[in-house]
Amino acid sequence: MKFIVANWKMNGNISDKNEMIKNLKNITTDNKIILCLPFTLLNGENSGITIGAQDVSQHENGAYTGDISAQMLKEFDVKYVIVGHSERRTYHNETNEIVHNKAEMAQKNNIVPIICVGENLSEYESGQTIKSIEKMLHESVPQSGKYIIAYEPYWAIGTNKTPTDDEISNVMNAIRQIVGNDIPLLYGGSVKPSNAQQILSIKNVDGVLVGNASLKIDTFLPIITAAN
Ligand code: PGA
Repeated sequence: MKFIVANWKMNGNISDKNEMIKNLKNITTDNKIILCLPFTLLNGENSGITIGAQDVSQHENGAYTGDISAQMLKEFDVKYVIVGHSERRTYHNETNEIVHNKAEMAQKNNIVPIICVGENLSEYESGQTIKSIEKMLHESVPQSGKYIIAYEPYWAIGTNKTPTDDEISNVMNAIRQIVGNDIPLLYGGSVKPSNAQQILSIKNVDGVLVGNASLKIDTFLPIITAAN
């Protein structure tokens, strides 16, 4: 069983979601499909498809205009939430400490955080990848409880570039050493039908986090079946 996680980011409307759910319902797979949707699409008929969100507040409730709490997500039967995506870290200045608090808040409400870590281009080019990932893990990941780690090199997201298999493997092994065997590890960054099978066959890759290619069933379905 592999995790196939869709990250719709700020894309999609109600009819796109209904269409995707209709298509996914007809698929038989042993893999775990999770649709991480914008907040506006969490409501409605999810027909047994596992739903995730893309962010959660680090606070319980209160005067935090525009934020959404873990308790609120719970009301929509959200089972997973992405925290610390590079786009949140970059555009919303989320630090490791904030990501850590968000992950703990999700856990407290029985929502499994999918914690994203990844090196930026200059770290990659200067051979600092593992060092950067280790720091992020130590500072962002809760001490205990259920969680998933998504390794997403910043420079691979939405760029059509991916690390080599050896590079992915080295990072996954390093993450495995730190988090242990029980934590699922995902790779994300330009996963598409043509590379999904290869990436999913790398040791310690328990699944993929898919952005762009998850928006349409034509590109999402081959990724789901690549993992069969
Ligand atoms: P991408 O995005 O598949 O479009 O590169 C992945 C992600 O950011 O989760």
